[in-house]
Amino acid sequence: MDFIKVNNQHVLGAVTAADVNALMPKANAALETLKKADGAGNDFLGWLDLPTRTDKALLDEIHAAAQSLRKSCEVVVTIGIGGSYLGAKAVIEALSDSFAPYRHRADNPEVLFAGQNIGEDYLYELQDYLKGKQFGIIVISKSGTTTEPAIAFRLLKDQLEKAIGKGEAAKRIIAVTDAKRGALRQLATEEGYKTFVIEDSVGGRFSVLTPVGLLPIAVAGYDIYTLIEGAQAMQKALTVTSDDNIAEIYAATRNALYNAGKKTEILVNYNPKLHYFGEWWKQLYGESEGKDHKGIFPAAVDNSTDLHSMGQWIQEGERTIFETVLSVEKQQHKVVIPSDAANLDGLNYIAGKRVDEVNKMAELGTRIAHVDGQVPNIHITIPELREQYLGQLIYFFEIACGISGYILGVNPFNQPGVEAYKKNMFALLAKPGYEAETEAIRKRL
Ligand code: PA5
Repeated sequence: MDFIKVNNQHVLGAVTAADVNALMPKANAALETLKKADGAGNDFLGWLDLPTRTDKALLDEIHAAAQSLRKSCEVVVTIGIGGSYLGAKAVIEALSDSFAPYRHRADNPEVLFAGQNIGEDYLYELQDYLKGKQFGIIVISKSGTTTEPAIAFRLLKDQLEKAIGKGEAAKRIIAVTDAKRGALRQLATEEGYKTFVIEDSVGGRFSVLTPVGLLPIAVAGYDIYTLIEGAQAMQKALTVTSDDNIAEIYAATRNALYNAGKKTEILVNYNPKLHYFGEWWKQLYGESEGKDHKGIFPAAVDNSTDLHSMGQWIQEGERTIFETVLSVEKQQHKVVIPSDAANLDGLNYIAGKRVDEVNKMAELGTRIAHVDGQVPNIHITIPELREQYLGQLIYFFEIACGISGYILGVNPFNQPGVEAYKKNMFALLAKPGYEAETEAIRKRL
């Protein structure tokens, strides 16, 4: 099996090899802490050996449930937010035909998403689109109490039950939630939905390789067995403590850059299919490291598109950034630029070249320009956008995140700051139990 590769040689200048090497003992120690489970947040380490713990029986069960939805539905709406949304969205987008939404393939249900926002027009338009269609629902919430997905589920459940009756609707709803706790678990039990469990020890942003991500990915028609195989291979490689471990190298490098004043990391792709991978990565690193008034700010751009919008800032703005580039080696299709006798556009100098060759030169030219402009560049090579490499990449970023968070000195596995807005929202909406907060917040308006 080919593997993803990490090259940190183009950060040198902003930091020295000695700066990175000086953090390797901390990276080694952080990985040991993860493996011994004796660090902060150690009750949320279920993801660490998840790939090798995921047995064929579970994958078969997920596959069978997905097949049943694929057979009965033209559209499957996956409801969830944050860690219960971004991983599945990232993998499906990375593997999908860019024009899948317009192709209407009878053999493949459309996978749509809801509950990832509270947009009234979004929900109206989704419900309108679903009218008269055979649809099913995957509702995902670890806590089972998150407001955004709960609202979307209430609306779509009602619509489905009115369209096909409560009994039939129950056959087309699958819930992924906690084994025992939460409103969604209770509702699923009472309504008799098929369910999958999210383990207590796997936090939302680390849950893409559980049924949270695997079920929607399988419904979209992708190979979850190979995805897990890729993650298993990475788990075996990256749980070995070593100065050659690419997760340790990435974690040490980004912390060396942070210590040198590079406070923002931009995840860069040169393939539009990786846009949502950047969104997933932003959550993973932002929620894991942004605490105690510390942490690299994770940003993302899609190139070459964003070279025409953010390129100026990256080239010449404040020198507090570095880039991590996701570079896909091999494309799935071949498109050659044709020659033109008149050559009015002046493009004959690239006639006969593949579009990807031009893209790769845009990438290389940008790297040289940015490194010259003092933007350090970490380069991650992905052999192809296929399930096994995405499985590798997911596990690589997860374990590197745990190592990096420990080097930084935070608990990478909690997210106390997420509660602040919820408290205010509940107070403003006068949720029962929030009477004092409601009174207090209304006085501030
Ligand atoms: O990573 C996290 O913990 C969060 O992003 C959650 O995944 C998100 O808030 C959704 O939570 P839940 O799955 O409980 O609805």
